[in-house]
Amino acid sequence: MRPNVTEIAADVFRISTFHPEFAIQFNQFLIADDEPFLMHTGMKKMFSTTLEGVASIIDPSKLRWIGFSHFESDECGALNEWLKVAPQAQAVCSFVGAVVMVNDFADRPARPLADNEILQLGRHRLQFLSTPHVPHCWDAGLFFETVDRTLLCSDLFFHPENPEPLTESDVVGRARQSIVQSLSGPMANDMPYTVYTDATLRRLAALEPHTLGLMHGSSFKGNSRQQILDLAAALKELIGKGVA
Ligand SMILES: [Fe+2]
Ligand SMILES: [Fe+2]
Repeated sequence: MRPNVTEIAADVFRISTFHPEFAIQFNQFLIADDEPFLMHTGMKKMFSTTLEGVASIIDPSKLRWIGFSHFESDECGALNEWLKVAPQAQAVCSFVGAVVMVNDFADRPARPLADNEILQLGRHRLQFLSTPHVPHCWDAGLFFETVDRTLLCSDLFFHPENPEPLTESDVVGRARQSIVQSLSGPMANDMPYTVYTDATLRRLAALEPHTLGLMHGSSFKGNSRQQILDLAAALKELIGKGVA
């Protein structure tokens, strides 16, 4: 496996590795700035590949922040490997993530971020959004780069296979198809539809991102507000029946 690196917005690099066994991409996002930030560590067993991708952009030992949405192997499984390679690096995640999961698992404690807290990287500025159960898990959160308006949206818009790094056409149609297909498979019900789901997605749409960085599938550039609203409508229709 080799990483495919693409700059999807100024200084925001998508590091994508297609895993043939899972038949999906695992994408990390590096924001190269005074204090470099990596979104998603990738899985522990894919660490050497992710490291190769990061090393093609910056000196990995200079990494300062490691963010992720929720406690799963592809989000933060290689956290301790990164903490070894980058002595100044610290994980940043939700309060729940830090207290309930990460601080027991990780070799150094995480910095918990409050909802809307800002992490200044240099030119770039990251806003943390606490989004419990969106895309899934109690500890879930997302990061929004406010200068060039890039939303790093974890598993939202999930779609499989090895598509192009960046599209300007549509990702919600692909995401919808994936949800329908997964409903009858062993990975069904990955995203709960709760009383918070629609309001959380509307909050994300209101940020009016220019670019969406997807963990699995193509990133999107264009009217991201509409993509998010369309995703919210699809989720309501496909899995939200009966939820207020
Ligand atoms: Fe996930
Ligand atoms: Fe994921």
